[in-house]
Amino acid sequence: MENKINEIRTLALAEIEEATDLKTLEVVKNKYLSRNSEFNNLKKGMKDLTPEQRPVIGALLNKVSAELEKLVNDKNEIFYKKELDERLLKEKIDVTLDGDFVPTGHIHPLTQTVNEIVEIFNHLGFSLIEPQYSPEVEVEKYNFDLLNFPAEHPAKDMQDTFYCEGASNVILRSQTSNSQVRQMLNSKPPIKVISPGRVYRNESVSARKNNLFHQIEGLYVDKNVTMAQLKGVLNEFVRLYFGSSRPTRFRSSYFPFTEPSVEIDVQCIMCQGKGCSVCSGTGWLEILGAGMVDPNVLKGVNIDADVYSGFAFGMGVERLTMLKYAIDDIRLFFNNDTRFLKQF
Ligand code: DAH
Repeated sequence: MENKINEIRTLALAEIEEATDLKTLEVVKNKYLSRNSEFNNLKKGMKDLTPEQRPVIGALLNKVSAELEKLVNDKNEIFYKKELDERLLKEKIDVTLDGDFVPTGHIHPLTQTVNEIVEIFNHLGFSLIEPQYSPEVEVEKYNFDLLNFPAEHPAKDMQDTFYCEGASNVILRSQTSNSQVRQMLNSKPPIKVISPGRVYRNESVSARKNNLFHQIEGLYVDKNVTMAQLKGVLNEFVRLYFGSSRPTRFRSSYFPFTEPSVEIDVQCIMCQGKGCSVCSGTGWLEILGAGMVDPNVLKGVNIDADVYSGFAFGMGVERLTMLKYAIDDIRLFFNNDTRFLKQF
């Protein structure tokens, strides 16, 4: 047994000596040190030895295998370093060469507008609504009834609103105003939130209308909220979004959920108020609807209208983007033509 061990050792030493690179060294390692090697088989044969022989042979086997392992590992390290050095020398990178051009995507113009407007209202003290209060799939109650729409209101007509097949009161929301109701039902004043999102209407698609578009809703409810504050906040918004030189106009209007209601116009971006085809000769462009929250709405969400008041507003993201950049077809936002999108 001792002879056999020494014989293997001599052979192994010679082959380790002869190995010239990592690959040949690996072959030697497998041959002499792996689980199935002759050397390992000798270890397994230990059990057949006499009790006197066992410690002697055991010690020898351990000594030789430690010796071979060390030799292989040392040589392995030398070869590894050498091959790495060679590779580093060969694969040198020329940093003066032109790089490959990798086109990067960027943020969609509508998302840019939403981000910009949300940031403006954050600055004015409004926080972004929690998404669970602003669902796109909605029941009529939150999209219409609790917003003080009379039961027979034309907006509820099948022509305007997408109804869910099989569940007659489930709809795709037609306005982000549903989030007002959900926010007020789930929190106590003071409430000051901004709520952007998608809305859906059953319209025939044209340059001016798409059946999916985006709105941003705002709601402020507290003690002593006044129409003067509404004017102050929305004028400040227009100043920050369109620039300080653009005059605004508040026109009396009607929405079921606000009383009084207004629509806000800015001086036409194209003709500076002189009158052109974009503003239909009026010199003004309508940009948002707003008003004081109707006491009926407050009642419906269990807020005491004698103690609290509020204002709300809603605006169309596509419209505001089109006005700012003089885009004349709403469909451009949805076609994903990168020649259009790249410009923003
Ligand atoms: N929901 C209205 C619409 O889609 C917009 C609107 C008007 C929202 C007045 C409001 C508001 O919050 O006070 O036409």
